[in-house]
Amino acid sequence: MKIGIYGGSFDPVHNGHIAMIKSALKSGFIDCVIVIPSVRNNFKLYANKLPPPYRLCMMKETVEGLGLKNCYVSDIEYGIDGVSYTAVVLAKLTSDEYIRDFLISNDVKKKKAEEHHEFFWIMGSDTLGTFETWYKPGEILKYAALLAAVRPGDDTDVDKAASSIKKNLGGRVEIFRLDGICCSSSEITSSGDFSQVPKPAQEFIKRHALYTENTRLEGVSDTARKQFFDYSTWMYQYLGAKRLLHTLNVGYLSAHLADLYGCDKDKALIAGALHDCAKELPIEQQLEMAKEYSGDLFTDKKIVHSSAGATFAKEELGIEDKEILDAICYHTTGRGNMTVLEKIVYLADKIEPSRNYMDLGPIREAAEKDLDEAVRMTAVAIRNKFISQGREQHPATIAMMKELNM
Ligand SMILES: [Fe+2]
Ligand SMILES: [Fe+2]
Repeated sequence: MKIGIYGGSFDPVHNGHIAMIKSALKSGFIDCVIVIPSVRNNFKLYANKLPPPYRLCMMKETVEGLGLKNCYVSDIEYGIDGVSYTAVVLAKLTSDEYIRDFLISNDVKKKKAEEHHEFFWIMGSDTLGTFETWYKPGEILKYAALLAAVRPGDDTDVDKAASSIKKNLGGRVEIFRLDGICCSSSEITSSGDFSQVPKPAQEFIKRHALYTENTRLEGVSDTARKQFFDYSTWMYQYLGAKRLLHTLNVGYLSAHLADLYGCDKDKALIAGALHDCAKELPIEQQLEMAKEYSGDLFTDKKIVHSSAGATFAKEELGIEDKEILDAICYHTTGRGNMTVLEKIVYLADKIEPSRNYMDLGPIREAAEKDLDEAVRMTAVAIRNKFISQGREQHPATIAMMKELNM
C-alpha cells in the first residue's frame, strides 16, 4: 500500500486539516492516510493549549463522525520516550511488524496489511522550505517520500525547495494540489470563532468545555502545567479514553474551583487530574495499594481505586504532598474534617462538564457560589441513589454529612 502520514498538533482540528487529508487521498499518490496527533514534538513541547489525549480523541471522533474513509488515527507517539521527532516516529511506524498490526487493528485486510508499503510524509508547502533544518532530514527521507501540498495561488517556490532537498539529501519529493480553505488553529482559539472546526470536533469541545477560561490555566505555575501534560500521557497507558478525559476534566474544574475558594491552584489541578488514575488497574493491585495508603478503610471494589490512586501517584510519579494524596484518597467518599482541596476534588469529580448522569445544573450553579452547599447537594443526590439501591453509605461519608448538618 501507499501510505500517507500526517502529523500535527490539531489544537483544534479544523477544516484546513480535513481538506489536506481529502486532497492527499485524491492526489493518486496514496491509498490511505495515518493521522498522528503530536505528543511531544520538537517545536511545541508544552506549547499546545490542550494535553495530548484531548487532541487525539478529538481527532478520532472527527474522523469517525465525518465518515472519512481510508483515514486512521494513530497514538504511536505515546510509546516514544522523549521528543517525538519525525525521524523517530517514522522509524517505528514503518517497521514491518508495527505497520502490519496497526493496519489490521484498523480493519485493513491481513493480506493488504502484510504487503510491501511505501510511505509519504504529508506536509504543507510552507514547511517544505524549512525541511532541511529538521532533525535528521536525511533519515526521514530513507523512510518516506515527502508529499507537499500546494494551494492554488500559493507563491511558495516549491520547485526550488524540492530540488534543493533532492540535491542535498537525495530522496523523493512529490507535490499535490490542495483544495480547500486556509485556516489556523491558533486564530480559531484566539478569536473564539469555531465555525471552521468540523461538527464532531465542535461537539467534543463543547462536551468537555475546552478552550475556555478554565482550560487556559491562568495562575497555574509552569511546573504544574507541565506535570498536568506529562501525567495525561502517563495515564494514557492505564485508562480508557472516556475515563482519562473525565479525570483530566476534573483537573481543570478543580483548578477553577481553587481560584474561587482560595485554595492552591497547582495542587487542585494535579489532585483533580490524578484522582481516578488507579481505577482501571487489576482489582487485586488496587486492594493492595489501597491498604498501603489507608489500611482497611477502603475495601469496596467500587471505591477502592480512590485510596489506591494515592499510592499509585506517590509511587509512580513521586508525589509526596499529603494534601494532594488525601484529596485523591477521599474523592469518592469525602470524610469528616475535610480540607477545601478535598471538597473541591470530591465535588469536581461529580460535576465536571462531561458528566450527565442527572440534571447537574443546580449543583453546578451552587459550585460557583457556595462550596459547602454544592458538596451538600452532591452528597444528598448520592445518598438518594444509595437508598434506592439499598446500599449502605461509607462511614467516612456519614462523618462528612454530619458535619454538613445533613
Ligand atoms: Fe473515582
Ligand atoms: Fe472520577
